[in-house]
Amino acid sequence: MKVLVVGKGGREHTLVWKLAQSPQVARLYAAPGNPGIAALAECVDIRVDTPITQPEKLRAEILRLRDFALAQHIDLTIVGPDDPLAAGIVDCFREKGLKIFGPTQAAARLESSKAFAKDLMASIGVPTATHRTFTHSAEAAAYVRAQGAPIVVKASGLAAGKGAVVARTEEEALEALAQIMEQRIFGSSGAEVVIEEFMEGEEVSLFALCDGEHYQLLAPAQDHKAIGEGDTGPNTGGMGAYAPTPAMTPELVAQAEKRIIRPVLAEMKKSGCPFEGVLYCGLMLTAQGPKVVEFNARFGDPETQVLLPLLKTDLAEVFLAACEHRLDQVRIEMSPQAAVCVALASAGYPGPVKNSFEITGLESLDGKEELLVFHAGTALVEGRLVTAGGRVLNITALADDLPGAVARAYEGVGRVHFEGAYCRRDIAHRALRPKK
Ligand code: AMP
Ligand code: GLY
Repeated sequence: MKVLVVGKGGREHTLVWKLAQSPQVARLYAAPGNPGIAALAECVDIRVDTPITQPEKLRAEILRLRDFALAQHIDLTIVGPDDPLAAGIVDCFREKGLKIFGPTQAAARLESSKAFAKDLMASIGVPTATHRTFTHSAEAAAYVRAQGAPIVVKASGLAAGKGAVVARTEEEALEALAQIMEQRIFGSSGAEVVIEEFMEGEEVSLFALCDGEHYQLLAPAQDHKAIGEGDTGPNTGGMGAYAPTPAMTPELVAQAEKRIIRPVLAEMKKSGCPFEGVLYCGLMLTAQGPKVVEFNARFGDPETQVLLPLLKTDLAEVFLAACEHRLDQVRIEMSPQAAVCVALASAGYPGPVKNSFEITGLESLDGKEELLVFHAGTALVEGRLVTAGGRVLNITALADDLPGAVARAYEGVGRVHFEGAYCRRDIAHRALRPKK
C-alpha cells in the first residue's frame, strides 16, 4: 500500500513512524513533512499546511495534493492538522475516489465551529458547560454582566488554539469580548462568540477512531498546554503529554462513551454527516463526571506522540478498517507501559522565536531502547539540522511505569542541545504528585 500523511509536525512524524512499521505499507509520502519524517517517507513540497486564513491558497494546495495522490496511485491518505480538514480535503479527495481517513468538511464542524458543537451537544444532552452564542457584542456583554465571573469567552471559529479566554473577573471577560468581536484579533473567527460556564476539574484527552458508526478508543492521555511549570502562563501548542492518565479511570471512560461518544456519533449520522476520523474529546473531569470542553476532529499534538508508541495494533490496518466502515471488527491493543513526551521549544515560544540554531546530540539517542525523537520544527540547511519553529523536538520515552518514563524522557532531553532550548521540567506532574 502507498500511504500519504498530511502535515509537518511531531504528530505527523509519529504517524509516519508508526505506519512505517506496518507490513502493509510499501511506500510512505508526507506533504510537506519535515527532516525527521524524511528519514522514513518521501516528502512532497505541497503546502497543505497553509492556514485556513488563506482559504484560496489552501484550496489550491489541496487540489495539487489530490493530483499528486492520483498520479502516484496513493491507496490511503491520513490528515494530521485541522485546517485542511476544515477546508474540505476529505470531500475533495473522495470526489475522485481516493481513500482518505478524516472527517468531511461538514463533520469537521465539530471542531471548526464551536457554535455547531455546542448546539449539537445541547440538543442531545451531552454533558458540557452551559453556553450561549452571540453575534452582537452588546448582547454578549450584557450576558457576561448577568452571569458574573469566572466565565469563559471563546471565538466560535478556528483560532489556532488561542480562541478561548478563561476570565477570572468580569472585566477580563468584557475585555476578551472587545478583542474578539470588535478588534477582531482572530479575524472572521470572532464574528460569533460562545460564552460558557466555567468548569472545575482535571482535563484529559480521549481519542476515538471513528468510521461513521463504530469507534475504537485509544488510552486516555493528558497534555500540558501552558508554557510554564505548574501549568502557568500563556497557552502553547502543547509542551508535553503522557498516557495513560490515571485520573481517567475505566469507569470514567465508560461514562464518556455512554454519555458523549456514542450519542455524538449517532447524532452526526442521523443528521447526514457521519463522523469518520479521530474524534478528540477534550474532557473536564468534574464532580458531576466527564464534561466536554471541546471536540477536535483530528489527532492531538503532542498526545499522538505518546499514544501511537503505546499502540500495538497495526495502524495502517486500523485506518483501512475505518475507511471501509468496519472498525467494529478491529481490536485495538495498547501496551501496558507508560509513555511521556517532552517538547523542546525555542527561546521566546509561544511568542516570536529566532530560527536556524544548530541542533546537536541527537545521534547519541540513536538505537536507545524506548526513547524516540519526533521532529516538530526542524530544517536541514546545508546538511546541518537546525531549529525552524516554536516547538522543535518531541522526546518520547516508554517505560513500565510513569516515573520511569519521565526519568527516561528527561535523560533524552539532557542529551540534545540547541541555543535557547526550553522545556517544562514537570511533564506528568499531575499523575506523579502524592495523592492526598
Ligand atoms: P478550547 O479552545 O475550547 O480548547 O479551550 C482552551 C482551554 O481553555 C481548555 O483546554 C481549557 O483548559 C480551558 N477551558 C475552555 N473552556 C472551559 C470551561 N468551560 N471551563 C474551564 N476551562 C475551560
Ligand atoms: N493537544 C492539543 C491539541 O492537539 O489541540
